[in-house]
This record gives sequence, C-alpha cells and structure tokens, in this order.
Amino acid sequence: MIEVRDLTKSYGLHKAIDRLNFSVNKGEVVGFLGPNGAGKTTTMKIITGFMAPTSGQVKVAGLDVFEDPVEVKKRIGYLPETPPVYGDMTVEEYLRFVAHLKGAERAKIPSLVARAIEKTNLGDVRKRLIQNLSKGFRQRVGISGAIVSDPEILILDEPTVGLDPRQVAEIRALVKELAGQHTILLSTHILPEVQASCERIIIINRGRIVAEDSLDGLTKRMSGSGRVVIRVRRAIFGLAEALGSITGVRHVAAVSGSVQSGQASSNGNGNGLGAVSQVAGEVVFEIETDGAEDTIEKIAAQVVGQGAGLMEMKSESVNLENVFLQLTSSEEQQGSNVAAGVQS
Ligand SMILES: Nc1ncnc2c1ncn2[C@@H]1O[C@H](COP(=O)(O)OP(=O)(O)OP(=O)(O)O)[C@@H](O)[C@H]1O
Ligand SMILES: [Mg+2]
Repeated sequence: MIEVRDLTKSYGLHKAIDRLNFSVNKGEVVGFLGPNGAGKTTTMKIITGFMAPTSGQVKVAGLDVFEDPVEVKKRIGYLPETPPVYGDMTVEEYLRFVAHLKGAERAKIPSLVARAIEKTNLGDVRKRLIQNLSKGFRQRVGISGAIVSDPEILILDEPTVGLDPRQVAEIRALVKELAGQHTILLSTHILPEVQASCERIIIINRGRIVAEDSLDGLTKRMSGSGRVVIRVRRAIFGLAEALGSITGVRHVAAVSGSVQSGQASSNGNGNGLGAVSQVAGEVVFEIETDGAEDTIEKIAAQVVGQGAGLMEMKSESVNLENVFLQLTSSEEQQGSNVAAGVQS
C-alpha cells in the first residue's frame, strides 16, 4: 500500500533521512518509532506529498506521490505533527471543509462528517469553536479530519503527544478501532505507543532505519531473554545456587520485598521494600533467563521441590525499552544494526 524506496531528504548539508526503504501492506498498522529528530515527520510529510524528497521514490496504492499528488492525497488521511488550527470554525464546519478539500461528493459530505464525529466521539462539541476546545479534543478533531473522507490510509504523526493519560488511552483505543478499516502508519518517540497499537515496528534513528520487525519478533530476536520474579516464603539455604544451575538461567539475584516494584511502593511502608516480608523470612528472587518456557517450568519445579513455599511467580518478556534505547542511543549505529539483524 505504501512503498518507500531510497528516500533521502537533506536540509542544506544535513541529511534528515538517508536512503529509507520500507513498505506498509494493506490493512497493516505500522509504528514508526524513533527519538526526537530521527526523521519521522520528514518522512511522513514526503509520503503525504507535502514535501518533496531530495531523492528516492514513494508509491501509495501503486501511484507515485509526485506524479499523482492529487490522487494520492485523496487516499490518505493525515494527522500532521501540528494539526492546522482553524480556531474560528466549529468542529462540524471544519470537518465539512476538510471533506470538501478531499474531493468528497457534496451530497455525501453530511454523512461523512456525521460518521467521523461519531467515531471520534465529538458529538457533544460539534457546534463548538475549535479554539475553545481542550488540547485533547483538538487532537481528536485532527484525527477526525484525517478520517472524514474515509481514506484507505491513515498517516498519524504522534497522535497522542502532549495529551493527559486518559486522553492518551482514548486515542489509543480509537486507533485500535480504526485499525480494522484502514492501513495505518503511526509515528511516535515512545515505545508504549507502538506496543499499544501496532503490529509491526520500524525503528528509525538519525534518518536511518535501525530495525524493522513485528512487535513479537523484535522482542524475541533482539533479546532471547526473559525475566522471572519469584517470591518464596522461606529463604532455603542453597536455593539461589540451585536456581542458578538450571540450564537456561543466566543470573539470579535475591532481593527483598514484593514481586512487583509498583506494588511494593504501595504496601504502606513507604520505602518500596517489604519490611514485613523480611521479618517473615520471605525472599524475592529476580532471575534472568533465556526466555524459554522450559526454563520457567524448571524454576517453578525447583522452588516447589525444595519446599521454599512459592508465594508468587511472575514471568516477563524482555524489556523492549532497553532494546529501543540501545538501538537509538548508540553513536556506533553500525554495531547495533548488526545486533538487530537489520536492513542497511
Ligand atoms: N525545515 C527544516 N530545516 C532544517 N532542518 C530540519 C527541518 N525540518 C527538520 N529538520 C531536521 O531534520 C531532522 C529530522 O527532523 P524530523 O522533524 O523529521 O524528526 P522527527 O523524528 O519528527 O522528530 P520529533 O520526534 O522531534 O518530532 C532533525 O535533525 C531536524 O532538526
Ligand atoms: Mg516529528
């Protein structure tokens, strides 16, 4: 549906994006993830035909963006990084205006606008002036504008940036709902965003793609590791060593307190450590593993077998956040490219 080939954009001597290659298939929801300045907005502006590249090619639904800009724009709904502010229009007027610009048939505009308002939950504010809306609602108006002409493709540039947690959750739910009906490319600089909404992730750093995979694939391929946290009732002598000798266990650390740090800090003693647990002889182990299910099973069997009194056990896949940070912070990008098994 979207084909990006050798796309390069220079601002003066600075290459904002450098020979990007990727594609987005029909019906996919792809996350375009990268830190500030990585080149996300630049890429999206080029795909949507708002900016010309220095070199390279973009095809949308088989059409060249620069040879057929009008046709391409009809197929794309775009939420720019800074949604245009038409503060003196009401929500409804704005959506009618956008539908008209998108070339929708006059007779169909009322129903298109009604549908977009319904989908983005703007019914209560449809007669309000955009300038009087909160930021979250204005963002919703932006998304509403992107979907009003019912385009096949949605390009959303950081749809939740600057919103409060509840609004973020709402927008994520909306993206999920839209996912079934549109091909979506969504940019973000934060990982939870793609984890919440996307099937596939393209990670970009300093204008180059450093990784491209499914969320699952990325987690597995880059890590091959997992973490198991267990809480046992009795600190049996030698348990840590026994756990450490299980094939597939890489590291065992004994820490006191509750299994989840989040819970620990809410246990009332204020220091995040379970003082009560320590008195009772409880121990919490953090165990790094190879991520295999067999390993997890063996850990459980060992703890139970030793009669340590298994109270809690939690298995986590690797911290993708670390993977992302590693991929996007390194000066030596080439090194991490190899580690990630990524296209050059
Ligand atoms: N009009 C411009 N003139 C000069 N340099 C620019 C211009 N627009 C962007 N850049 C530079 O190009 C690079 C990529 O910018 P871009 O806005 O595409 O990044 P981004 O990934 O969208 O970042 P953010 O997460 O901050 O939105 C940055 O180094 C930026 O400073
Ligand atoms: Mg940007």
